[in-house]
Amino acid sequence: MGIISKNISRAVTLLNNEELVAIPTETVYGLAGNIYSEKAIKLIFETKERPFFNPLIVHIPSVDYLENIVDEIPEKAKLLVESFWPGPITLVLKKKDIIPDLITAGKDTVAVRMPNHSMTLELLRQLDFPLAAPSANPFNRISPTKPEHVEQYFKNKIKMVLDGGPCVSGIESTIIGFEDDQPIIYRLGSTPIEVIENVIGKIKVKNKKDISPKAPGMLARHYAPKTKTILTKYLLESIKEHQGKRIGLLIFNDNFNIENIDFKIVLSQENNLQEAASNLYDALHQLDEQELDIIIAERLPDYGLGKSINDRLERATK
Ligand code: TXA
Ligand code: MG
Repeated sequence: MGIISKNISRAVTLLNNEELVAIPTETVYGLAGNIYSEKAIKLIFETKERPFFNPLIVHIPSVDYLENIVDEIPEKAKLLVESFWPGPITLVLKKKDIIPDLITAGKDTVAVRMPNHSMTLELLRQLDFPLAAPSANPFNRISPTKPEHVEQYFKNKIKMVLDGGPCVSGIESTIIGFEDDQPIIYRLGSTPIEVIENVIGKIKVKNKKDISPKAPGMLARHYAPKTKTILTKYLLESIKEHQGKRIGLLIFNDNFNIENIDFKIVLSQENNLQEAASNLYDALHQLDEQELDIIIAERLPDYGLGKSINDRLERATK
């Protein structure tokens, strides 16, 4: 029997028994466990082979629940919650004492969000505790956007993937913290920076080049296929350079009409960045299965979600 199922009651039972369930969100699938169960949380790190210094995001059922988790909520954080929850903005705020150190890797802040997926919100309402949920992939590998991706990674390790269909946003939440009450983006994500700035004004990005990254989603190499992958603006030149190899192409639209390529995926025929984002990880999963010598990915336009997609592709190609 497969592990993919739509049975929310079964997910409730497993989670109440300190086991893990993969859950759908609007961004990517998460590998979820009770934040107050040391057993479940340790199992999350073990299953993902994730280092303990990398803290987890806490998923809550409602806006009101936030005050059970965090101590101080800056004005701009309140504005973000009002504008974007439920949705793909994760806030890093001062934690309450009841949040276990295992969740936050010993930091005095906790990352928290209210996901926008009806099944997972229903699940959270039926539980007496929030869910810690990192993306449901082994450390450094491509994040899952379909139940089948999770099944492939973890079918022998977890009992259930709650089937909520393909993820609509397709890349992880945007992570925003506060330093001296000023908002800072620690990870570019599903909500374009321009949209965030419309609500709270100019915001700094500390997404890269930090020696000790605030959010290891910022680690230089992350979200990576096993196949050698390069990112380029100059598609035709790169193809020429790798002539004779088994090439896979990951391109935004299909303007070039390129031939003689072993495997090609177009992210959005209509030039739509949202569509491209939601197709990105599934495309990387598919390309990685083709036994190619090299994946050549096209750099997307550098605005809106294009920025977030380029960020992920850069990390996939390090
Ligand atoms: O869209 C998402 O955010 C997905 C879905 C499942 O909700 N989750 C996700 O989790 O991407 P994960 O564990 O793959 O990435 C969480 C990121 C990590 O880079 C971690 O370092 C950062 O959040 N993070 C967690 N707590 C933090 C904290 N207190 N301060 C700074 N960064 C934190
Ligand atoms: Mg992740």
